[in-house]
Amino acid sequence: MRSFWDEAAQRNAMFYVDTSLGYDDPDPEAFLAGGRRIADIALDETKATPPGHGLAVEIGSGLGRICAALSETFEKVVGFDISAEMVRQAEELVNRPNVEFRHGNGVSLTGVDDATADFVLTFTVFQHAPRRSIIRANIHEAARVLRDGGVFAVQWNATPGPIRWRAHRIKMGLLGRLGRADAKGRDVPQFLGSRVPLGAMDRMLADAGFIRVGLAEPDSLFTWAWAVRRR
Ligand SMILES: C[S@@+](CC[C@H](N)C(=O)[O-])C[C@H]1O[C@@H](n2cnc3c(N)ncnc32)[C@H](O)[C@@H]1O
Repeated sequence: MRSFWDEAAQRNAMFYVDTSLGYDDPDPEAFLAGGRRIADIALDETKATPPGHGLAVEIGSGLGRICAALSETFEKVVGFDISAEMVRQAEELVNRPNVEFRHGNGVSLTGVDDATADFVLTFTVFQHAPRRSIIRANIHEAARVLRDGGVFAVQWNATPGPIRWRAHRIKMGLLGRLGRADAKGRDVPQFLGSRVPLGAMDRMLADAGFIRVGLAEPDSLFTWAWAVRRR
């Protein structure tokens, strides 16, 4: 995961963070506006309100566009990313005193104390995780750092049809071996990631101590859930 995202960041960080942008000339204004839109969805469409405006944490912060938007609502924002190159570029792009980026190990939020965060968000990160255990570990970390009543806003791939999904991955792998791989490298396991049906996501959330209170765009690549931490 780390080398894939480091290389992606070196090649064209903005595009790999938001592949809806043009590869050759990604528009920085559209990119930052996307970050504000995602933060708005995560904060406004929830049925739960974070208990305070102290600390927000983003898992997989990329170039920091969402952290930048969250810094207008929270006193302090910490973004974790598995790619040192993403962290380096995020520090350049988002130069705000209340935003900090940390190079993480992909499964923990080391350095954030237990029960200190009001809000944890993750967007277009779990959908790229090649194993469900990575998602589970991050959910447990979100639960560890959130205080009582803290809100976890999580987006993941809940597309229906396990057989269709497996067939899609096999087809991508075959095309790669036949020399017809995606030129932008989006057909490798580190990008294709995992799908997690809602039932399995609900079990992971409940096991970590969350109560799910909201859901948007079910059965899609961009399914959102909102969950409240109860201690
Ligand atoms: C598609 S980008 C999204 C970035 C950001 N969430 C946004 O929407 O602006 C995915 C980011 O997650 C990072 N990443 C992937 N797996 C991760 C993991 N297990 N833990 C932390 N960061 C991860 C990648 O390095 C990359 O910067």
